[in-house]
Amino acid sequence: MRATSPPVPLTTLDPASATEAWALDRAASPDAWSLPVWREELGRGDRRYLGVHTDRLIGLAGWADLAGEAHLMSVVVADRERRRGLGARLVAGVLADAAAHGASAVTLEVRRSNTAARALYRRAGFVDAGVRPRYYADGEDAVVLWRR
Ligand SMILES: CC(C)(COP(=O)(O)OP(=O)(O)OC[C@H]1O[C@@H](n2cnc3c(N)ncnc32)[C@H](O)[C@@H]1OP(=O)(O)O)[C@@H](O)C(=O)NCCC(=O)NCCS
Repeated sequence: MRATSPPVPLTTLDPASATEAWALDRAASPDAWSLPVWREELGRGDRRYLGVHTDRLIGLAGWADLAGEAHLMSVVVADRERRRGLGARLVAGVLADAAAHGASAVTLEVRRSNTAARALYRRAGFVDAGVRPRYYADGEDAVVLWRR
């Protein structure tokens, strides 16, 4: 059914969504940003965040423009909404948005142990390109991925 359904609409997030974005992020990620950081992120001109809404924000993804290359900053889907294509939809939305803004390649870091996200990114065409040892505050390595 997923292949024939119309794509879930994505909206561009601004600082008015900071509280919802923060709540979604902190429920899902050990590396969640604080509310002030979310307010700043959603207001920056060199970042773009896309969201999926029902009666509330249930997913988001964003990217940063780094001199013509896109850095995928975060992808989060609410726990109860997972495994129905929203993460893939958000990543596809970011890739399209970045390409529309002239980004020729997209990179990201992901925890080595994050098998769900690594599978999602692999399916979206990312390939492993290296490791940043002890990148995260708790000492876990980051895997660096690129999609060109
Ligand atoms: C990673 C995350 C965004 C995936 O969101 P999602 O909406 O469940 O992803 P999708 O339903 O679009 O899944 C797309 C594909 O990714 C892979 N995938 C997603 N979750 C997976 C899991 N738990 N285990 C294995 N593969 C998984 C599968 O290949 C899946 O395709 P399939 O369902 O047809 O098998 C979600 O698990 C999440 O929010 N995790 C916490 C935050 C996080 O770690 N973000 C990444 C930080 S870099």
